[in-house]
Amino acid sequence: MSEPLLAVSGLTKTFRNGGRHVLAVDDIGFELPAGQTLGIVGASGSGKSTLARLLMRLIPADSGSIRFHGQDWLALSGARLRRARADIQMVFQDPLSAFNPRATVESVLNDPLRIHEIVGKAERPARIGELLDKVGLAMSLRGRSVLALSGGQRQRLALARALATRPKLLILDEAVSALDLSIRRQILELLVALQREDGVSYLFIGHDLAVVRAIAHRVTVMEAGRIVESGETEGIIARPQTSVTKALIAAVPQLITGTESRPG
Ligand SMILES: Nc1ncnc2c1ncn2[C@@H]1O[C@H](COP(=O)(O)OP(=O)(O)OP(=O)(O)O)[C@@H](O)[C@H]1O
Ligand SMILES: [Mg+2]
Repeated sequence: MSEPLLAVSGLTKTFRNGGRHVLAVDDIGFELPAGQTLGIVGASGSGKSTLARLLMRLIPADSGSIRFHGQDWLALSGARLRRARADIQMVFQDPLSAFNPRATVESVLNDPLRIHEIVGKAERPARIGELLDKVGLAMSLRGRSVLALSGGQRQRLALARALATRPKLLILDEAVSALDLSIRRQILELLVALQREDGVSYLFIGHDLAVVRAIAHRVTVMEAGRIVESGETEGIIARPQTSVTKALIAAVPQLITGTESRPG
């Protein structure tokens, strides 16, 4: 088998809060093949977002290794790191906090194209049009302020911005958690369709196993910074081995009665 897109091993991160040490990510390892989705679930404070920030290189790791796209990801620096950053993008729960409040739909998408020099200035309007089309946003929204978008439109825009650099990996940190059910369903379907078209890999962070089930091929369960269980999503839901996973399943009634699973 070829090398996975992402291979993490022994990844560890400690925070120091005053005199107290918090082992937020504790000796974590996993692999993510290209074109697949890995779900990361766990209770609040289990270290999911810290893992995401380590992968984005927003914070330094204490130890461990990250191989991404055939490279020693933690060893990259300077111009090589700046270039490579385009390959991993992230979408958060609340896109509004990630947008400049004075931004328009167009400027949100223009920025990454300019900063990462994805296409020349003359081609940017066409590329912005393609991105809007990709995420199902009307061209007429181009000049609209981000403040004047609905929650679902904002999350589509956040997704378009993340896709602007043609990333190989998209980290979705509770990206659909704040959306109401029908909008959430639409965004999940959009994510699945984008993956089919472009082969982008997702690290899908969530706490609702029913949502994770709709998108993740495999799932990893975290507790207090450690991985306590991982495997194919359906197997984990059918035969949970740990009390953490059993509690996550018990929190979602439709997992016990329903038959919905990942489309396709
Ligand atoms: N910048 C920081 N400084 C100190 N402690 C931190 C920092 N960021 C996170 N932590 C601590 O690390 C642990 C893991 O936090 P993290 O945000 O990764 O959890 P999470 O699984 O994403 O939780 P949630 O589901 O609530 O988003 C928590 O105990 C948290 O308080
Ligand atoms: Mg979090």
